[in-house]
Amino acid sequence: MRNRNFALAVTLAVVGLAGATEALAQAAAPSRRPDVIFMPTPEAVVEAMLQVAGVTKNDTVYDLGCGDGRIPVTAAKKYGAKGVCFDIDPERIKEANENVTKNNVGHLVKVVHADLFEQDLSGASVITLYLLPSLNVKLMPKLMKECKPGTRIVSHAFDMGSWKPEKELDVDGRKVYFWTIPKR
Ligand SMILES: C[S@@+](CC[C@H](N)C(=O)[O-])C[C@H]1O[C@@H](n2cnc3c(N)ncnc32)[C@H](O)[C@@H]1O
Repeated sequence: MRNRNFALAVTLAVVGLAGATEALAQAAAPSRRPDVIFMPTPEAVVEAMLQVAGVTKNDTVYDLGCGDGRIPVTAAKKYGAKGVCFDIDPERIKEANENVTKNNVGHLVKVVHADLFEQDLSGASVITLYLLPSLNVKLMPKLMKECKPGTRIVSHAFDMGSWKPEKELDVDGRKVYFWTIPKR
């Protein structure tokens, strides 16, 4: 009987711990509205963004506001790159996870439900964006502070205000901008 009670106590402790962990994870999930709605980047533009950044299997591609995850998924499928998809909208997170599974890139691509402005960006070698002009400008100091020198930044449609791009492409009438984080 004593053994059974001990086993029960251990089980309750483990279940309690799991419950607490789950509650913490839920508390950490962002609950505010997205800063910009989901509009997917067309596949031809995704390809051009990855090409202009020179993505290879040695890269880790962060898509800040990933939508259905198409940019890191394509980077993984086509180049063998690692990737992290960040989005604040739970619906997008579900779609990105489905996309990762459908394309068998779960060993390379992670999906994170988070506010992009609260993430540590130091692990990226390539960052992809399709946000808004004001959000790019708001993000710029964070990119400069956290990204390693040499990290490549690619933005679909929007530039970065006073930070002049190294390259500017036109893909089927859509703009793509490219920068490299300078030495400090
Ligand atoms: C225009 S879509 C771009 C989707 C994808 N990057 C692409 O190019 O196909 C912008 C995405 O940013 C997400 N988003 C908006 N504000 C965000 C925030 N603060 N943190 C993380 N994601 C955000 C939206 O939910 C949406 O999926």
